[in-house]
Amino acid sequence: MAILITGGAGYIGSHTCIELLNAGYEIICLDNFSNSKSASLNRVAAITGKSFKWYEVDLLDRQGLEKVFIDNEIEAVIHFAGLKAVGESVASPLHYYHNNITGTLILCEMMEKYDVKKLVFSSSATVYGMPDSVPISEDFPMHTTNPYGRTKIMIEEILQDLYVSDISWGICLLRYFNPIGAHESGIIGEDPNGTPNNLMPYITSVASGKRKELQVYGCDYPTADGTGVRDYIHVVDLANGHVKALEKVMSSTGVDAYNLGTGKGNSVLEIIATFEEVTGKRIPYTFAARRPGDVAECYSDPSKAKEELGWVAKRGIKEMCRDAWNWQEKNPDGYKGKDNNNFKNRHLP
Ligand code: NAD
Ligand code: UFG
Repeated sequence: MAILITGGAGYIGSHTCIELLNAGYEIICLDNFSNSKSASLNRVAAITGKSFKWYEVDLLDRQGLEKVFIDNEIEAVIHFAGLKAVGESVASPLHYYHNNITGTLILCEMMEKYDVKKLVFSSSATVYGMPDSVPISEDFPMHTTNPYGRTKIMIEEILQDLYVSDISWGICLLRYFNPIGAHESGIIGEDPNGTPNNLMPYITSVASGKRKELQVYGCDYPTADGTGVRDYIHVVDLANGHVKALEKVMSSTGVDAYNLGTGKGNSVLEIIATFEEVTGKRIPYTFAARRPGDVAECYSDPSKAKEELGWVAKRGIKEMCRDAWNWQEKNPDGYKGKDNNNFKNRHLP
């Protein structure tokens, strides 16, 4: 019996594959590689010394997906596959709705057909939109400002409806706060296409000399130093949250949402200062206008995940900065680098 990981080659998926393999699970990955490279899967196998099957399949390809369910005995699914760039979702809403929502519908139909009713879904703190207060707990109202966020809200609602129609489903909706960092080996990490949108990949690109300076979006927020505050979470802690959520869905039915965050907020200037301290690299920056749609402060109340999943984030922002830089320094061109061949097809069936 295996766990199917959709979007397993991506940033969070690849880190989760490692934790699942280390915990003794058999995994099968599926990805269309629209925002990732198969090299990440080869590296997961190299890090863990364990082999696993993977398929290059698009969730929208019903026949291709069905073959995965026919070929394998799947007992649960962790569903990462989706498009995630907020700005792109505003420019191409139909593409986002089709990929994320239709992809999830086809996946759930296939799960129903093959009687696989255990699902862990990647949601996001974006479902809380502009919260009235912080810390944010799971019972805060859901509203969002962009099509990407709406795909997450709609999918959460679809999954709630699915459970109402058939109470034998076990579903966890994991609302991630701001994942950063990388596996401590520096062998896998975040590899965004083009100019990074998010803070940490932008900082590492400045540290490596690829970009001259960081623009800090907004210095007049009602926060301690005027810059935006977020709940940054180490991607390995986040990956471990999936192992706990998987245990929960395997042993119970129901649909539950969980915040995966540290419960602590850090400002942009605090992240820059910590990165400089840990790495010895200087990050030149200038202040720019606020980025449209950004909130001043967003951090979680993660107590429900602690109480019900037995999960807490263990790593702090020093480890997050250290590991993000370790990955960037060892892989200046991400998975496109020439050292990729060192990992090619190792341990794969
Ligand atoms: P990612 O882009 O690195 O990984 C997503 C993977 O899904 C990619 O490998 C991509 O190729 C694949 N994919 C996309 N559409 C597909 C399709 N139709 N069929 C098959 N594969 C497909 O992103 P990530 O950062 O690892 O995020 C994983 C999930 O977590 C996403 O659903 C994202 O929305 C959610 N999330 C991410 C963050 C974040 O800051 N990284 C925050 C909150 C939620
Ligand atoms: N920031 C800068 N300069 C940059 C990039 C970001 O100052 O070049 C600031 C932002 O203004 C914000 C903070 O750094 O204050 C974090 O920004 P990110 O883009 O890294 O993260 P966001 O909180 O905006 O969004 C992320 C994901 C979303 C997800 C959300 C909640 O990108 O997809 O977390 O989970 F919805």
